[in-house]
Amino acid sequence: MRVLLTGANGQLGRCFQDRLPADWQILATDSAELDITVLAQVTATVSAFKPDAIVNAAAYTAVDKAESEVELAERINAAGPANLADVVAQHGIRLVHVSTDYVFDGNASTPYTEASPTNPLSVYGITKLAGERAVSAAAPDAIIVRTAWVFSEYGNNFVKTMLRLGKDRDALSIVDEQRGCPTYAGDLAQAIIALLQQNAAGGIYHYSGDKEVSWFEFAQAIFAVAVQKAVLSKAPTLTPITTAQYPTPAHRPTYSTLAGNKIKALGITLSDWQSALRKTL
Ligand SMILES: NC(=O)c1ccc[n+]([C@@H]2O[C@H](COP(=O)([O-])OP(=O)(O)OC[C@H]3O[C@@H](n4cnc5c(N)ncnc54)[C@H](OP(=O)(O)O)[C@@H]3O)[C@@H](O)[C@H]2O)c1
Repeated sequence: MRVLLTGANGQLGRCFQDRLPADWQILATDSAELDITVLAQVTATVSAFKPDAIVNAAAYTAVDKAESEVELAERINAAGPANLADVVAQHGIRLVHVSTDYVFDGNASTPYTEASPTNPLSVYGITKLAGERAVSAAAPDAIIVRTAWVFSEYGNNFVKTMLRLGKDRDALSIVDEQRGCPTYAGDLAQAIIALLQQNAAGGIYHYSGDKEVSWFEFAQAIFAVAVQKAVLSKAPTLTPITTAQYPTPAHRPTYSTLAGNKIKALGITLSDWQSALRKTL
């Protein structure tokens, strides 16, 4: 299997490279080597490397900043994946594209399935949904994996933010009103590898953590492990707050748990984020 990886320096990109099967060949590209928004670069890279599959780990992921950088978010999250989809459709290459729980509005009270109606609340969610639609229109054989609340030892994520704040502060207020499923990027990478190994059918798959929490509960779990592992000498005092008490430029879904039944039916287990958290710390 020859895999072209985009966004190689992101959380998913780095974790994917760490887990690459020994007999796979990879061309791992960061945004300087392959900017997915430039069709000519995508075409030239694919013509030169001749991949069997492209894994798109590139994205604009700054959810709040996207509210003021609409055009850039649109280019990276929608136009870029459209370029990849056009090229894979021409050459008969598999594409794995990654999307988000933020395509939903959060008004549900039971886990979202792949068929649940979308209704994004933010620029990030709108542009990611546009990316999904562009990919499935141009390349119906493409695999789209929606994931959520991604953390890892790499890049920027909630776990690292909590550790940084926990070192500096004695008390933190954390939103307790939004619920979802943390996902370890390494488990997501492994799931993508399994989907490609199985030559899974095209379409949308939900893949996230196996246990739902609020951001407040996630923070509690992070500090419990951080103290246990002596990453921090003591945990800050945590106070649960409402979304209204922590206003952000982007609106986020109140509830974004993804139902993982479709991917589990392929024998792929959801992210055991609690044990991944212990290993990450
Ligand atoms: N992080 C989350 O909590 C979360 C939640 C749900 C879904 N997701 C989805 O999961 C996927 C992986 O997320 P992640 O957390 O691994 O993202 P990440 O750490 O932010 O990495 C994204 C990577 O994309 C690269 N990139 C940006 N613009 C590019 C371009 N035009 N061409 C090529 N590369 C470009 C960035 O490189 P530069 O730094 O060089 O620009 C960065 O390394 C994304 O599709 C994201 O939408 C993430």
